[in-house]
Amino acid sequence: MTIAVLLGGTSAEREVSLQSGRTVSDALQARGYKVREVDPADPDWMAQLDGIGFVFNALHGPGGEDGTMQGALEALGIAYTGSGVLGSALAMDKRRSKQLWQGVGIATGGFAMLSEDTDWQGVIDSLGKVFVKPACEGSSLGMTPAADAGELRDAYQRAAGYSGGVLAEKFIDGPEYTVGILGDEALPSIRMETDNEFYDYEAKYLSDDTRYHCPSGLNEAEERQVGELALAAFRSLGCEGWGRVDTMRDQDGRFYVLEVNTIPGMTSHSLVPMAARQAGMDVPALVERILQLAWE
Ligand code: DAL
Ligand code: MG
Repeated sequence: MTIAVLLGGTSAEREVSLQSGRTVSDALQARGYKVREVDPADPDWMAQLDGIGFVFNALHGPGGEDGTMQGALEALGIAYTGSGVLGSALAMDKRRSKQLWQGVGIATGGFAMLSEDTDWQGVIDSLGKVFVKPACEGSSLGMTPAADAGELRDAYQRAAGYSGGVLAEKFIDGPEYTVGILGDEALPSIRMETDNEFYDYEAKYLSDDTRYHCPSGLNEAEERQVGELALAAFRSLGCEGWGRVDTMRDQDGRFYVLEVNTIPGMTSHSLVPMAARQAGMDVPALVERILQLAWE
C-alpha cells in the first residue's frame, strides 16, 4: 500500500509543512511503507491521489489543518491521519475554540476581538497587556504583544493581513508548557524558554538558543493536571488521533489553554517528536503510531 504524505500547501506555514512532511515521509520509508509526497500547491495534486487509500496529512494552517482538506478527503473516500472536519475547523479558529472552552469551563485567557472600530484604550483597560494574534494562523505568525493603546493598534494592523479576524488575548505572565496528545494519552509536557520576547517564529524554527525542558520540571500532580487540561481541551473541540495543546502557567501555578494544534510541527525543532522521545518513542515509531490511530 502506498501512503500519500500531504506537505507544503498554500498557507503561510508552507515552509514549516515542507519540513514536517519530509520528516514524516522519511519515517514512513524507514518503517518500510511506500510513500508518495503530494503538495496541494501543485495544480495537479488531486490527480496524484489516484489509487491512494490513505493519507498522512502534514499540512499546517488554513487549507490543510482547518477542515477543508479533511472534507475533501472524506468526499474522495480517502482515510487520513488526525482530526476530522469539525475538530480541525474549531481548533484552527482561536476565537471559537476559546468561546467553547469558556462555555464548558476549561481555563483559557480572557480575550477581545479587534477591528478598525475597536476602542483600543478600552481593551487595554479591561485586559491589561495582551498578545495580539490572527485568529486562524499557526507558528505565531502575525503575533505581537501590546501594552498600550498605540501598540495595540499597530499590532492589530500587523495581524490583520492574515485571514480569520484578529484577537487580543490577556497576557499570562509565566512559562509556556506544551502537551502532545497521542490517542487517549498526554505525552510528557515540555517547557519552553526563549530570550526573545515570546516563543515566536524565530524562537520556534530558526534559533538554536531556545531551551526545551522535557521533563518540564513539574511535579507529578502538576504534570497530571496539565495533561488532563490538555486532553479536556482537545476532546472538547472534537479532536482525534494526535495533536498538541499549548498552555501558559501563571505566577499562581494555574494553567490556561492557549490553543490546540491538530497537525503539530514535525520539524527537527518540533515539540511532539521531543515529547515522544521522552516517552520512549523515536520518530518512526511516533509516525507509525499516528497512522495506527487513524486506522483504529
Ligand atoms: N503550527 C505549528 C506547525 C505547530 O503548532 O507546531
Ligand atoms: Mg497553532
